[in-house]
Amino acid sequence: MTNHPPQDRATSGLDIHLDLTRGRGLRVGLEEGLRQAIRSGRLSRGTRLPATRTLARDIGVSRGTVLAAYAQLAAEGWIAGRRGSGTVVAADPTIADLKPADVVAPTWRYDLRPGLPDPSSFPRAAWLRALRHALATAPSELFGYTDPRGVPQLRTELAGYLRRVRGLHLTAGNLIVTTGFTQSLNLLMRALDVGRVAMEEPSLPFHRAIVRAADHEVILLPVDDGGAQLTNLDGAGAVVLTPNRQHPLGVTLSPTRRSQLLDWARATGAYVIEDDYDGEFRYDSHPLGSLQGLDPSSVIYAGTAAKSLAPGLRLGWLAVPDALLNRVAELKRQTDGQTGILEQLAFAEFLRSGAYDKHVRKQRLRYRHRRDALLAALPPHLRTSGASAGLNLLIHLPDEKAEGEAVAAAKEHGVVVGGLTQDGYYESENATSGLIVGYAASPEHAFHQAVEALVASLRSS
Ligand SMILES: Cc1ncc(COP(=O)(O)O)c(C=O)c1O
Repeated sequence: MTNHPPQDRATSGLDIHLDLTRGRGLRVGLEEGLRQAIRSGRLSRGTRLPATRTLARDIGVSRGTVLAAYAQLAAEGWIAGRRGSGTVVAADPTIADLKPADVVAPTWRYDLRPGLPDPSSFPRAAWLRALRHALATAPSELFGYTDPRGVPQLRTELAGYLRRVRGLHLTAGNLIVTTGFTQSLNLLMRALDVGRVAMEEPSLPFHRAIVRAADHEVILLPVDDGGAQLTNLDGAGAVVLTPNRQHPLGVTLSPTRRSQLLDWARATGAYVIEDDYDGEFRYDSHPLGSLQGLDPSSVIYAGTAAKSLAPGLRLGWLAVPDALLNRVAELKRQTDGQTGILEQLAFAEFLRSGAYDKHVRKQRLRYRHRRDALLAALPPHLRTSGASAGLNLLIHLPDEKAEGEAVAAAKEHGVVVGGLTQDGYYESENATSGLIVGYAASPEHAFHQAVEALVASLRSS
């Protein structure tokens, strides 16, 4: 060690220079120099740092100073000691640059959020096979700008699947591939010049926000055991609803209301937007056919891979009546040109090879077992509903206060669940209160502990 260290000191074997002259103490200076080098990308992930003894000798500090600096940087996640290969840079510059507030770290141990599939069960190997096939066989033209409606391979496979499994009445020509329901709803709200749009209450607040952002007035349809009530449709030019499984209550639109709704749409020229977000997951009875199959000129069907595969894929589709096709396709082109080609081609192959059917069957069985385990574990005095399909069920609670207490108690037990009132599903006063418990999101190994923790919290609240 020396009292007058040189301005810059090169570290052995590494192209970094440490400025240890600013009177901050040698350890702090060394730490900051290494942080800067990682942050700027000069030291990239995986780069091996010099051994402590060598670095200490090179820069003229004690080995203890280097050891202390390495320990501090390891605790912060910048570097990591690897058995047999010394100390390496562990952080990416982009990640290292994020301030803690930018990183959404889960604050829970157990994930029982509604509406999410288990991300750890994404069929990576089968998807990789489909992607490899897509890359090996796609003609080069597809890597240029392509049809904004989607590649023909995917539209053809999807049309076949939707006819077979969901009873849709369509050809590949009616389909527009999107990046999910969020984009589908945005496109439709721009395409339809209707003024008033009816939506279910309860419904996802951000879906209502999308409709309002396109300058439509939202009118709310209360939901009862028969699904959305159709008493308040006056002046509406479109209705957005989840007829096959109301989100989040889990009820189904009754056959009488289905025909009433379609009669009304035909009589007024309004459009029905059918959000079929988790139509694949029905456990105790056969899936209902889609509304679109009953009236393909009044119903716009919207599907998504967010529940059946993964939200992060960003894949969805619209079956659009002929009269609206060109308008929606043009808006899709203006919005983002087209959906990414590799996802489209991989999904086409995934459908063609039968891998999608296989994956959905497997997930359906897995989620049904989880649903059964959850229902069996819940205290018998609690009233539940919406459990015959989908990825979540509802535990009814007497009022908003009881709901708030139950959500807080769950949190104290490390569990995150949804709250029907507090998550903004209702706008008016006539809210039902309760917990929306998603049984799909947790990875398999943690599911049973998650249920135990939830049950313990319900007993304590
Ligand atoms: C009611 C409903 N519709 C649709 C979706 C799917 O949206 P996206 O395809 O944009 O992920 C969700 C997902 O949370 C949903 O809850």
